[in-house]
Amino acid sequence: MNADLLVVGSGFFGLTIAERAANELGLNVQVIERRHHIGGNAYSENEAETGIEVHRYGAHLFHTSNESVWEYVNRFTRFTDYVHRVYADYNGEVYPLPINLGTINQFFRAAHGPAAARALVQELAAEGATGDPQNLEEKAISLIGRPLYEAFIRDYTAKQWQTDPTDLPAEVISRLPVRYTYDNRYFNDAHEGLPVDGYTAWLERMADNPRIDVTLETDFFDASQPWNKAATVGSIPIIYTGPIDRYFDYSEGELAWRTLDFEEEVLQVGDFQGTSVMNYANRDVPYTRIHEFRHFHPERDWYPKDKTVIMREFSRFATRADEPYYPVNTAQDRERLLAYRELQKGEAKVLFGGRLGTYQYLDMHMAIGAALSAFQNKVAPMFGAGA
Ligand code: FAD
Ligand code: NA
Repeated sequence: MNADLLVVGSGFFGLTIAERAANELGLNVQVIERRHHIGGNAYSENEAETGIEVHRYGAHLFHTSNESVWEYVNRFTRFTDYVHRVYADYNGEVYPLPINLGTINQFFRAAHGPAAARALVQELAAEGATGDPQNLEEKAISLIGRPLYEAFIRDYTAKQWQTDPTDLPAEVISRLPVRYTYDNRYFNDAHEGLPVDGYTAWLERMADNPRIDVTLETDFFDASQPWNKAATVGSIPIIYTGPIDRYFDYSEGELAWRTLDFEEEVLQVGDFQGTSVMNYANRDVPYTRIHEFRHFHPERDWYPKDKTVIMREFSRFATRADEPYYPVNTAQDRERLLAYRELQKGEAKVLFGGRLGTYQYLDMHMAIGAALSAFQNKVAPMFGAGA
């Protein structure tokens, strides 16, 4: 036990800190991870029957406009030129998303140009507006009008939240971007792509350093393992990327999360849906979307031509036993989070980071960017290295 730094959790936040601390400061880093694998939610593995790479915790698309993050991630992997696009099945017809000129013209059986489409959406929005929006439905209608809302937002949102949009707070959405071009690229970032040899190879390269020791299937709260909370807090600096409420034994109440259930299936066809992600906008379809993983890597010519892997995604509120995915973030959650942040101040040698440690949805590039700044501004100074 000669580590200088303990990192709890091997997701992108924890691994970025571990990598920097080992390579930049020459520290010995002990990483502990509750799961049987490295990488947190970005972990992927090849499905056994087909060899097709499956993102175990839902489809992960890398994109960023942050040049220092882009430079950093390229030290560990190259990226393909994959460009993400999403389609939606509504009433048995397929439309491009996000809502764009193609979606609008198909939906209204029209051939509007950008100006006419914009005027139409503004007119529908004005027609549906009710003054000060009291719930998500009223807010959405005030932004894009009732017809587009009912087709593409209402049921999908209800399925995501297991809640009728009239019972969801208006603040859940601040904008509903509509594009008045046919551009249906999902992300607008300067850089986008998927790791050429997969997420796990990338994550493993970050930890590939004799100074970094990753111990799997080891829970920080399991008092029978040597790197547990009681044995380490106060005696070694700790980067904690698990749930913040769990750290404090839920003393201020539980923070609410949504989770996802995935149903994976190997089909004996070469191509099931012709694209990587299809959303299902209608309420009578119980899943929100279907991922077909071969389409994330069209360049992999070794993928079988007669089999494919699909994953149906279902959304629901999480219990303590579930994987926490998206913060629900009600007013009560925000109040509890503030109380936990107060408690955090008493933990001088523990840095809370990442998605779970800050109760914040973070894309991969945001988790990595946050870890790079935390390393520079907080971790390096702890070891007497200049900020
Ligand atoms: P995590 O990856 O969650 O890592 C935290 C780790 O800590 C986990 O491995 C966990 O097992 C471990 N841990 C927790 N408690 C303990 C404990 N007590 N002891 C030991 N270990 C513990 N980002 C994108 O950029 N593009 C996407 O398309 C995208 N899609 C996503 C889809 C879903 C469904 C989800 C949930 C996230 C998605 N993300 C995406 C976000 C991406 O997964 C996160 O940015 C990334 O996971 C953040 O890394 P992290 O290290 O903060 O957290
Ligand atoms: Na995703």
